[in-house]
Amino acid sequence: MVRVIAVEPGAVAAAIGAAVAPAADLLRAGGLVAFPTETVYGLGANALDPAAVGRIFRAKGRPADNPVIVHAPDAETAWRVTTGPTPLAMLLAERFWPGPLTLVLDAADALPRAATAGLPSVAVRVPDHAVALALLRAAGVPVAAPSANRSGRPSPTSAAHVLADLGDALDIVVDGGPCRVGVESTVVDARGVVPVVLREGAITREQLLEASGDGAAEGAVEAERGAGSAGLPDLAASPGTRHRHYAPACQVVIAEPGLGRRVAADMAAASGRRVGLVATVAAPPGVVAVARYTDAADLAVRLYQALRDAEMAGVTDLVVEGVPESGIGRAVMDRLRRAAEGSGA
Ligand code: TXA
Ligand code: MG
Repeated sequence: MVRVIAVEPGAVAAAIGAAVAPAADLLRAGGLVAFPTETVYGLGANALDPAAVGRIFRAKGRPADNPVIVHAPDAETAWRVTTGPTPLAMLLAERFWPGPLTLVLDAADALPRAATAGLPSVAVRVPDHAVALALLRAAGVPVAAPSANRSGRPSPTSAAHVLADLGDALDIVVDGGPCRVGVESTVVDARGVVPVVLREGAITREQLLEASGDGAAEGAVEAERGAGSAGLPDLAASPGTRHRHYAPACQVVIAEPGLGRRVAADMAAASGRRVGLVATVAAPPGVVAVARYTDAADLAVRLYQALRDAEMAGVTDLVVEGVPESGIGRAVMDRLRRAAEGSGA
């Protein structure tokens, strides 16, 4: 039976520490612990224990060629699973950690291949969440943690999502309430001089560019010529972005900003299907009101919940009104397109 430990992220440090102690013990003993971060819930295991990391892949049904992110309570600890930070990595860590930024660096030899999927690199991150940090500190080991959903499903932004997808495949769910950001971290290759975005996420390209400073100026110009948006290159994709992702059981249709209500009404009238709407305005008659948002950051917070709510409401076609592709809107539209591609399956 999976054990649920509820922890209030706003509680005093001592209370959080006491609550997460059994979960930390279990991580050291090779168990699987789902825990909240500011982005989405992670499914954690001791990154130094190949058998424990193997359990993550089995529980999620995750393809073996998709490496996981290693989580640490601070930069010093994160660097230990790498061969050491580049100047760029140090700069970005200083600016964005704890926070929704994942850095890809050369992996330390001691790191088991299970965590890196056999790549010479490793992805590391220090999450900005009181409960996650307390757990990582108490565990005292680096924690490999992909998002705690079944592979191909929308990422979990609440403990209920984790339980719905993984149930008894894990040992403990630490329930710290809903996630504050709602989309995953930005994955950046920090091995070179310029940050290379491998996966769009909560830290925006605008923020990365602004933080990259003088040292990256030359590279940034070069990157701009390379046609990457917001002056950063798209040289490679994260291995995980090849796989089917974020797909709910209903068909997802993306509407232009401002047109969601109209598109949903037309679809409902024409098809007689059960149409749902996620938009900045109220749903028209005959359309299921799934979620209403104010701006891109608010849609980020609500998107994965909305995809799951639409399924629960028996919606067959979910119209989601898009947001402009700037700032966090870029990550939101990336996830939305993946949901639209893979949905209905
Ligand atoms: O916000 C997040 O990043 C959440 C929370 C739990 O921290 N985690 C998360 O993990 O989204 P996951 O496994 O769902 O996505 C990790 C992404 C995948 O696209 C994976 O391919 C990429 O990071 N990744 C991991 N290691 C990598 C590496 N060595 N090189 C390039 N990409 C890597
Ligand atoms: Mg994931």
